[in-house]
Amino acid sequence: MVQGTANWNTEQTEEWLQEYVDDWVAFYHNKIGDGEVASYIPELQKADPNDLGITIIGKGGMTISSGATDSPFTIQSISKVLSFIVACMERGVGYMLDKVDVEPTGEAFNSIMHLEMRQVKKPFNPLVNAGAITVSSILEGRTSDEKMEPIFELLTEMLGYRPAINVDVYESERDTSIRNRAIGYYLLETGFLESDLNITLETYFKQCSIEVTVNDLAQIGLILANDGIDPETRDEIIPRQVARIAKALMLTCGMYDASGKFATYVGVPAKSGVSGGIIAAVPPRVRDEELPFLEGCGIGVYGPALDDKGNSIAGIRLLRHIASQWDLSIF
Ligand code: DON
Repeated sequence: MVQGTANWNTEQTEEWLQEYVDDWVAFYHNKIGDGEVASYIPELQKADPNDLGITIIGKGGMTISSGATDSPFTIQSISKVLSFIVACMERGVGYMLDKVDVEPTGEAFNSIMHLEMRQVKKPFNPLVNAGAITVSSILEGRTSDEKMEPIFELLTEMLGYRPAINVDVYESERDTSIRNRAIGYYLLETGFLESDLNITLETYFKQCSIEVTVNDLAQIGLILANDGIDPETRDEIIPRQVARIAKALMLTCGMYDASGKFATYVGVPAKSGVSGGIIAAVPPRVRDEELPFLEGCGIGVYGPALDDKGNSIAGIRLLRHIASQWDLSIF
């Protein structure tokens, strides 16, 4: 593996960074220890555990892509960032922060226990299942398709194409998701839901089943890193305040009960999904040496073998390596 931080400078070409990243991806792609692909959604078991892909898109458009970049995968929990953003745009930030808190749980993403034990007035945060299902219930629309439409519109604006739902994954989760139904019933009993439970869950399963690539995640990450503005067109796609809250939530809650470690060792807002995707938004940083992507970048990673928290093992290792080589941390 290429070692050392070298002396990065602006003369260094895209090809040169590409060589480094290719090397790191080749090194980490089978470093999955005893990680396994998710099996509680049966359709996700078809993924190749050793796949690893990454795309990094910088503010000036510089793009580094390596490994399994063409393998589409379902967005899963990364969609929780998008549904929260859309709900804030529809209902206003004040309304949403009344309905879901912004505190990390320290529990698994699909925990029910903490809701009952702590007798909370609202779910802990929109990035755990209980919070995300509540957000799906708040999205405007009478049907799940109506609720999904603004999410697709936002994605189309960011990506330049309209992604699709992977129907097999959607049906696979819909037909097996006993725990999410349990969470849904608990939320119904406590009065947190604002729509019919079945429509809410249908929306939630659909948003999780949107198919993306690492390029898509990098592009979304770049827009978030840039406070909601597309750096190419200068269009404001997400209001600045909403983008900033989304990033704060990603940093504190995005990797679930591994968020503290991720903040310590990688140090950027990120969100994982159980199909193995990770999105990261790297804000611009000030350093007194030249480093790659100083103006900020978006990163998409895919590595379907997961650790016991539900995060991509090789994906986190690769991000940790890149963050230390390029000094990406916001701290
Ligand atoms: O609700 C679920 O269990 C999945 N659709 C999404 C969970 C997920 O992605 C957790 N992430 N690591």
